[in-house]
Amino acid sequence: MSNPGLLITLEGVDGGGKTTQASLLVEDLEAAGHEVVRLREPGGTRLSEKLRLLVLDPQYEEMCDECELLLYEAARAQLVHQIIRPALERGAVIVCDRFFDSTYAYQAGGRGLPRDLVKTANDLGRCGIVPNATLVFDIDPKEALTRATHEGADRLESEGMEFQQRVRDEYLRLAREEPDRVHIVDAIGTVEVVHARVREALRGVVSL
Ligand SMILES: Nc1ncnc2c1ncn2[C@@H]1O[C@H](COP(=O)(O)OP(=O)(O)O)[C@@H](O)[C@H]1O
Ligand SMILES: [Mg+2]
Repeated sequence: MSNPGLLITLEGVDGGGKTTQASLLVEDLEAAGHEVVRLREPGGTRLSEKLRLLVLDPQYEEMCDECELLLYEAARAQLVHQIIRPALERGAVIVCDRFFDSTYAYQAGGRGLPRDLVKTANDLGRCGIVPNATLVFDIDPKEALTRATHEGADRLESEGMEFQQRVRDEYLRLAREEPDRVHIVDAIGTVEVVHARVREALRGVVSL
């Protein structure tokens, strides 16, 4: 990417510590003098938040895998156009809780959609954007579930353990496939210990 900003994405199964670690990372980045934009997917724009409500609403149990895939991509495309690209162009550091790797992990790994189909959809939804660095908070899904706070399990959280295991495996595969971009962060340990791992993984990517 030939713009002055940076896109850092946080990934992994629910309960792995993305939200917790995003807050600490944002503090560090701001203290280091960066303009920081914190986002979560799906969401971050008026339209994308509306799509988030749709895609995570457990009442739509009839939602087919392809419909789900396309809703995520629609929300992402709008976020890229409206927020991510302008922020990168003005030199901001974006910390985004989930991005297209989630779609590989959940829609290909979890749901079992063909990976090449998911790639085609991702190539449309990302609108030319690739994260500069992606941190995958890796944890046994069983461990993660005991951590996750359940404000009403959304559709993904209620999928069960085998699903979560496939999601984890797909994240690990992504890290093997793109080791320069996708970094596995061991999510077991205190919040401080994991935070130190985050800083280490981002050495050479951004000044902290
Ligand atoms: N390193 C950690 N050790 C133990 N519990 C943690 C740790 N990091 C986060 N938690 C707790 O686990 C739960 C899930 O963390 P969260 O940051 O919301 O994960 P995610 O956003 O990936 O779902 C929260 O209750 C959080 O306080
Ligand atoms: Mg979270």
